[in-house]
Amino acid sequence: MSEFHRIKSYISYWLDAVNIHSLHAPFVYELYRKVLKQKHQNPAYAAIENIREKFRASRHYVEVDDLGSGSQKSTASTRRVSDIATYGITRRKYSEIMADMIDYMDYRQIVELGTSLGINTLYLSAKPNTQVTTFEGSASLVNIANELLEDQRKNVTVIEGNIDKTLPLFLESSPKLDFIYFDANHQYRATLRYFDLCLQQGHDQTCFVFDDIHLSEEMERAWDWIKNHYQVTLTLDLYQIGIVFINPELRKQHYVLEL
Ligand SMILES: C[S@@+](CC[C@H](N)C(=O)[O-])C[C@H]1O[C@@H](n2cnc3c(N)ncnc32)[C@H](O)[C@@H]1O
Repeated sequence: MSEFHRIKSYISYWLDAVNIHSLHAPFVYELYRKVLKQKHQNPAYAAIENIREKFRASRHYVEVDDLGSGSQKSTASTRRVSDIATYGITRRKYSEIMADMIDYMDYRQIVELGTSLGINTLYLSAKPNTQVTTFEGSASLVNIANELLEDQRKNVTVIEGNIDKTLPLFLESSPKLDFIYFDANHQYRATLRYFDLCLQQGHDQTCFVFDDIHLSEEMERAWDWIKNHYQVTLTLDLYQIGIVFINPELRKQHYVLEL
């Protein structure tokens, strides 16, 4: 992210953001009060944070294929596990929001695009009655995530490979999806394509969450395109993530929310 873009997008978010006093739509008001602004109480979250801390203290390195850059060539690079755990994955606050939302909406069929170490997957699968499918292209990260998730969860499947290929195959036979987190390829075309593909397996209550909506000019464009999509009704911009609903019973509205 360019520093200029980051500052500009944050100022714009900060100027536009509203709080509970501006929320009149009952669904948004309740979601904001009960999930987004709620203190996250689940004791399971502390255990997940202990695992994050262990990764942060790791001295290991991994070979990571950068499939998210869109390069056709192999862009394998060696990265510290501690750097990935510190800078490369969803922060606690947003993982907790997603886990609480899954609980609040009683979502069952969950998809995560981009597993990395599996930390956020632990949040998404915190409720045993969920079925979480998570996608990762880097073999070394799949190994780490599998080791963690096989030990901690019975309700998670990790699908290895490039999402460009694995996602359409999965969707051919998947059940309808309740919650989808887009956190892999942060490029305009890939974001739109994955959204379009997942829409086909969505239903009126499905929630789509996009990470890094203000990361770059192209992610801003992708976010604008999503907001204007004819099936999209409600969108919530929390700066780091964007939350999307397609429920036709909700009024088409776009909120920028203070957290
Ligand atoms: C930001 S990380 C995911 C972090 C994870 N959701 C979390 O919060 O813990 C993005 C991951 O997506 C993977 N990725 C990016 N593009 C991909 C693609 N086209 N196919 C498969 N995996 C991809 C990367 O290897 C990386 O591990």
